[in-house]
Amino acid sequence: MQGKVWEERFATPLAAEVDALNRSAPFDWRLGPHDIQVSRVWSRALHRGGALTEADLQAILDGLDRIAEEWDAAGAGFLQPDDEDIHMGIERRLTELIGEPAERLHFGRSRNDMVATDMRLYIRAEAAALENAVRRLVKALADQADGHRETSFPGYTHLQQAQQVSLAHVLLAHASACRKDAQRLAQLAGSITECPLGAGALAGSAAPVDVAWIARELGFDAPAANSIEAVGSRDEVLDFLYLAARLGIHLSRLGEDVILWSSQEFGYATLGESSSTGSSQLPHKKNPDVFELARGKAARLTGNLTTVMGMLKGLPSGYNKDLQEDKEPLFDAVDTLQLLLPAMTLAVQELAFDPTRIEASLRPELKVEQVVGLLVERGLTFRQGYRLGQRLVKGAGERDLRVDQLSLKALLEISPEFDKQVQDILQGGWTVPGAGVSGGTSLKSVQAQLDDLRTWLGSPARNPPK
Ligand code: ARG
Repeated sequence: MQGKVWEERFATPLAAEVDALNRSAPFDWRLGPHDIQVSRVWSRALHRGGALTEADLQAILDGLDRIAEEWDAAGAGFLQPDDEDIHMGIERRLTELIGEPAERLHFGRSRNDMVATDMRLYIRAEAAALENAVRRLVKALADQADGHRETSFPGYTHLQQAQQVSLAHVLLAHASACRKDAQRLAQLAGSITECPLGAGALAGSAAPVDVAWIARELGFDAPAANSIEAVGSRDEVLDFLYLAARLGIHLSRLGEDVILWSSQEFGYATLGESSSTGSSQLPHKKNPDVFELARGKAARLTGNLTTVMGMLKGLPSGYNKDLQEDKEPLFDAVDTLQLLLPAMTLAVQELAFDPTRIEASLRPELKVEQVVGLLVERGLTFRQGYRLGQRLVKGAGERDLRVDQLSLKALLEISPEFDKQVQDILQGGWTVPGAGVSGGTSLKSVQAQLDDLRTWLGSPARNPPK
């Protein structure tokens, strides 16, 4: 087994139990492609500065190409048991492949600026990939909403029926939250503008390199404003983990709604066959596991954020080994969301809503607000109308009736302000209003919300409005 590059400084080799604790190779192997890219650019920077010959540069670039192929084929298997981390693994392999020129590559750089750069490149790539996965979920929600613009739905506050809305309006509430997460992920990718490579261990590179050129080559706008901050900061990791947690919370709330809707008591929606699970004991069961896991996984996503915040809090400036603990929470957040989002997208596509059952569950008391509106139109103050509305609900309760079952005589007993028009409102059907405020539940507003989403998604409507 080959030893550590730094082992000559010590009288005894590293103890196995300390090596096991210290190694990040078991998880940071995933940074391979980014680390190779960093080395490509670094070797070219050294060559431009006169610190590498043309022949050495060519040998390094060829070796790195070969390593990229090996990494593509083997992934984690590319590393050897004695590799401390991905950076040392790549240097070890490059040395095996090309010999001496590989030993010139680490001049003027440090794993501290390398890992900070790798992480930013990783976040940039993964934020963009996640944005696309969220877009697909938003499209599934928009497609469902399209088909239910006219489906009346009980809008809840405190999980008590509060106001009539449309099912499309509720689905679009979830779509709207997820869309903003996708937009923030895209913004995050675009906001990673400073390049840590060139910061060295902390003081700035001692090699003759052009850090502005390095930054541009790696797709950043500029070199790090401050090399000490660059190697000691994980703010991009925090930003990403916050957005991942926020998205996880949104998915959990969508999950909770669907879990309720698909329960026998609600019966608003039937789960798809290929996106729900059965029971090992109870033959009749059909379980909303996808949506429950969305709820459950929000815990680990918020946990990942608090783990890294806790790790960073109170660290001395510059690089500290604690920072190695940024990786597993970050990778876990990416893996969790990349697992959850496609399953959730399918499960949303497969939901079958039951408009008849939904409408049957709407409580006639939801119409009392409309009665108050009528009384206000007739000249009463809002509070006068509101008090009469309370009496209406109370009066129906005292008679053991629903408000729509009250006779005209009973209505007049409750208040002389009540008449046939009031009774007509209470006994009327459930239709989604045509017009209303922007953002609200009306057909017009929901159509505008859908159109806006479609524009953002760049996809045409499934059911164009009649
Ligand atoms: N594996 C390390 C990490 O992820 C790389 C940086 C190590 N730096 C050091 N000075 N030992 O943080």
